[in-house]
Amino acid sequence: MRLDIITIFPEYFAPMHVSLIGKAVQRGDITLALHDLRTWTHDPHRTVDDTPFGGGPGMVMRPEPWGEALDEVLGGRAGPGSAEPGDQVPGRPHLIVPTPAGSLFTQAAAADLATAGHLVFACGRYEGIDARVADYARGLVPVHELSIGDYVLAGGEPAVLVMVEAICRLLPGVLGNAESAPDDSFGGGVGPMHGLVEGPSYTRPRIWRGREVPEVLLSGNHADIDRWRRDQALLRTARIRPDLAARLPASTLSARDREVLSDAGFAGTGDDVAH
Ligand code: 6GU
Repeated sequence: MRLDIITIFPEYFAPMHVSLIGKAVQRGDITLALHDLRTWTHDPHRTVDDTPFGGGPGMVMRPEPWGEALDEVLGGRAGPGSAEPGDQVPGRPHLIVPTPAGSLFTQAAAADLATAGHLVFACGRYEGIDARVADYARGLVPVHELSIGDYVLAGGEPAVLVMVEAICRLLPGVLGNAESAPDDSFGGGVGPMHGLVEGPSYTRPRIWRGREVPEVLLSGNHADIDRWRRDQALLRTARIRPDLAARLPASTLSARDREVLSDAGFAGTGDDVAH
């Protein structure tokens, strides 16, 4: 996977040289290139922003540096007519624009983007990037305007760190344990935990400060352990994330699953969880 990140704060991405992603970069499984947007300015002050047309607070990023940056970073790899939504031919870049006004970056979006060979991230600051830039880029490559949640960050950089981690840990060989990903909360679209948040995990010692590890986990009975873990995930999802519980496809719920949800007081309509 090749990652290009265009930003006015390249130093913000120091964490990408740490931990799982850092090791994948070292191994060469991920090729990372950081680009300072100011490289594509031509005035003495290397200006990247200006006041918004129509007035209002804040600053908007100017289209000219972004246009030049995208021409160069996407250049040669993008061509007219190459933008096919959902197209993931390796080598053809996808442009990701982090913005609180984007569609939600979900585990499904991460899994989808993990199949692309080349991702380019355009980090906006201030009140965003002049809207014509994304519009222009859409004529060159698939463009994804993505938000990581319902809150506002000062810039796209932390959102890109989040997205890169979520995407890259799905790449073959990046995660230490190849089997960890499908059992995560939200799953990868497969596995028993799809659509659920994860239940609790325990390790040694068996008794810590008077608190015991649930007996079933010591039983060696893997059918019982799997059932207990699913019960815990269902209970926790009903309690903490009724929105997710309400979206569980009926076809994925066994009679036992329904019993657990109903014992948790989950009505199943998504509008109420009675306790
Ligand atoms: Cl992607 N960017 C910014 N600035 N704020 C956000 C976000 C992105 N996602 C949620 N809030």
